[in-house]
Amino acid sequence: MIIKLHNWIYFLTTIMFIIEDLTVSSLGMVHITIPNAIQSGRNAILMCDYELEGDDLYSVKWYKGKREFFRYTAKEIPSIKTFHFPGIQVDVQSSNASRIVLNNVVPEISGKFSCEVSADAPSFQTHIVSGELQVVEFPEQSPSIDDIKQYYNVGDYLETNCTSNSSIPPATLEWWINDVPAHIEHAIRYDTVVDPISKRQTSILGLRLPLTNEHFYQGRLKLQCIARIYDIYEKDVTRYVEEQYPRILANSDNGGVHFSFISDRDAAGKSKSSVIQHHNTHLIMLVLLLVIHSIVNYHQIEIRIFE
Ligand SMILES: *[C@@H]1O[C@H](CO)[C@@H](O)[C@H](O)[C@H]1NC(C)=O
Ligand SMILES: *[C@@H]1O[C@H](CO)[C@@H](O)[C@H](O)[C@H]1NC(C)=O
Ligand SMILES: *[C@@H]1O[C@H](CO)[C@@H](O)[C@H](O)[C@H]1NC(C)=O
Repeated sequence: MIIKLHNWIYFLTTIMFIIEDLTVSSLGMVHITIPNAIQSGRNAILMCDYELEGDDLYSVKWYKGKREFFRYTAKEIPSIKTFHFPGIQVDVQSSNASRIVLNNVVPEISGKFSCEVSADAPSFQTHIVSGELQVVEFPEQSPSIDDIKQYYNVGDYLETNCTSNSSIPPATLEWWINDVPAHIEHAIRYDTVVDPISKRQTSILGLRLPLTNEHFYQGRLKLQCIARIYDIYEKDVTRYVEEQYPRILANSDNGGVHFSFISDRDAAGKSKSSVIQHHNTHLIMLVLLLVIHSIVNYHQIEIRIFE
């Protein structure tokens, strides 16, 4: 009899567990969507999506680092509360249980943002997910290439610096030669320079390129420096340098002689020296005509004598 009662209790508790298991609700996946980089002064939209799967929502809390700055509580009126965090301005009108809008973002608020979702009774489950936001202060100017000469010889070193002024975070710089990224060994990295007051940073990338024949395409080399910050800022600067003694002439015997060959491939085709060349052609034709004329005259004279 005692054994039977024991079995009966065992059977009942098992049934109860099964029933509870079937009705238990749970908080599903929580997913956060944050722009990884955004320009300073803009409004940022941070989203937190979740599946309640039968639960009621209890609260959604947002943290910057470890500090809570926003709380949505479903059963409270008003449902949204904000807590002061320097630099964070929540647009309460545009925010709700699944997204928040931060107005006029500043670099100081860059870093880790977390969203914590809590379900109400009976599960009371809580999930927290995080993401990184970087507020970018664009450079004050486009990148610039330091002064370089216009003409170089094969065998010379092309040495210069590219600078991207005052940004947060510092811009990454890249050299491109004739539309191809420069070899890493020709780039010289320098530490960024931080402005102590604005905290903005200046990036400098050096170039030390030993020039070979292959660098000059039709006597010209295209030098480019590209500055980037995440995928929201990209600016470049382009310079052209020219070969001092173009190969055709350098290879011939009169190596030192420098014709006005360069101007022939100037974009502005009608340059001064092409005008000079036209004059030369006219002069040669004139001389030729004179020679022909005098030869013909000479023969005429001879013919007359024999008549
Ligand atoms: C929050 O607002 C956005 C945009 O207005 C809307 O698409 C979304 O459904 C809202 N979410 C909730 C939980 O009300
Ligand atoms: C490039 O900048 C660095 C750091 O300011 C400087 O030391 C170096 O002399 C510069 N190089 C050239 C070629 O101007
Ligand atoms: C970058 O900023 C410094 C001072 O912050 C200034 O001296 C320099 O001229 C600037 N460079 C350019 C290319 O504007």
